[in-house]
Formats: sequence, structure tokens, C-alpha cells
Amino acid sequence: MNSMAQPKQAHVTTRRLLDMKQNGEKISVLTAYDYTMARILDRAGIDVILVGDSASNVFSGHNTTLPITVEEIIYHAKAVVKGVQSESSRAMVVVDMPFMSYQISGDEALRNAGKIMKEHECDALKMEGGRVIADSVKRITDVGIPVMGHLGLMPQSIYKYGSYRVRAQDESEAEQLIEDARILEESGAFAVVLEKIPTALAREVTRSLTIPTIGIGAGVECDGQVLVINDILGLNREFHPRFVRQYADLNSLVENAVKQYVQDVRSRSFPSPDESY
Ligand code: KIV
Repeated sequence: MNSMAQPKQAHVTTRRLLDMKQNGEKISVLTAYDYTMARILDRAGIDVILVGDSASNVFSGHNTTLPITVEEIIYHAKAVVKGVQSESSRAMVVVDMPFMSYQISGDEALRNAGKIMKEHECDALKMEGGRVIADSVKRITDVGIPVMGHLGLMPQSIYKYGSYRVRAQDESEAEQLIEDARILEESGAFAVVLEKIPTALAREVTRSLTIPTIGIGAGVECDGQVLVINDILGLNREFHPRFVRQYADLNSLVENAVKQYVQDVRSRSFPSPDESY
């Protein structure tokens, strides 16, 4: 067999994630949208990098994830994949399928899934929804493209919900979610994101599935956790939801660095003779 066709030894695969669940090892996931950040995340040991459609919010400044297009997500995915191509890279790269790139028909879902996969060497796709998209998930996984599901608060449906409040707090929505998770697993999904649901429900779903659950605002008992990189780095001063743990205050760091630079340019202290030719 051609050695180029073999995944790198350390590369995180769908099989590895399943083993992690079985061994009780937690899975770490963060979003990235560009080469530089992907390289840092990979070197820091992240298991999975999600090229999230949250790029629509944090990269492009839209209010929701709805506007991002297939071409735009491919642009971000190409940059991220380049960031994890060194010999020692190990992170799996999962790419979000944009709103309305998979909801119209199974044919269109399959065509767009193939298009996103073929443009670069990402490892898998993510799609929001349960039973409604099950046929498409099955068709996509049947041709060999791994799919990560996404249940609970699904940002592509924000106009239907009318708010970002916690989902599945009542029994009927909780039962529906448990059933949707089962359907996704049956349809071939290799993992499922559970966003903003009660901890007890996330625990029940996690225990009922063979595939790993990846939580965001869904408590500690999911098999892994995902957050948006801009949120953990404190890049957005205005956004502090309860489920985000902020590990740095880059907003202040960057702002102060830029203020200092502006001052140095204006006062002619930059560039110094040492910084000139
Ligand atoms: O787009 C995104 O960033 C996501 C995660 C927050 C799960 O879907």
C-alpha cells in the first residue's frame, strides 16, 4: 500500500475517539479558522480542531452562523488543514457544513459534503439536526465521509428558537433529543455535539450512546468538551456566557500593545536605529 495513503501514526481518527470514550479519556476540541491558530492548537495537544460556522460570528462579524457559505468555510478549512500538516501534527480537523448546504435534499447534502471534503484534506464534517437530517447523514457516511452530529441548541435554528436559552429542559424536548442522538448513531455519525442542555440529560445521552458526546454548556459528563477559541482567549470583551471558561484576556493584551505601537509611531521612538537598515 502507498504510505501516503496511511494516516500519520499519531493522527487522531474516528477510531481513536471511540477508543478514548471506551477508555474514559476525555476528548478536547476547540475551534480555529486560520493557519496560525490551528498550528498553535495542534502543538498544544488539542485532539480535534473544529472549523466551526461560528466563523460567521467571530471572523466575519455576522450576528448569526447563517450567512457563512460553502466557499467561505472551505477557505477557512484550507488554512486550518495547512496548520496541521507537519510530521508531528495529530489534531483531527472537522468542518461545519453551512446552513442550507445540507437541508434541501439528500443529493445536495451529498454534493456539498463531497465538495468540502475534496477541496482539502480535512477529516470529517459536522451537521446540525437529528431525525430530519438522518437520511443525509447516512448517505454521506455511506460514501466514507465521517459525520459529527450536533443536537441541543443548534445555532443554525436560532430564528426558530428566538433565543439562546438552554434547550431540552422539558420532558418532551429531552425525549426527542435522546431519540435524535440514537438515530444519529444509527445513521453512522461518529460523535455528537450536545450544546446547552442540562447536565443530567447530557449524562443520559452519553451513557446511552457508543459514540462519544462532545459538550458545550452540557456539563462535565460528556465524553469531551468543545469551546470557541475566541471565547477562551477573551477576544470578545462583550461575550461572557456561563459555559465559557476564559483562559486569557487577549482583548486587553492586544489593545494595550496596539496603543503602545501607536504612541511609539507618533513619538518617533519606533523604529529605532537598531530596527532600521
Ligand atoms: O460553530 C461552532 O463553533 C460550533 C461549536 C461551538 C460546537 O458549532
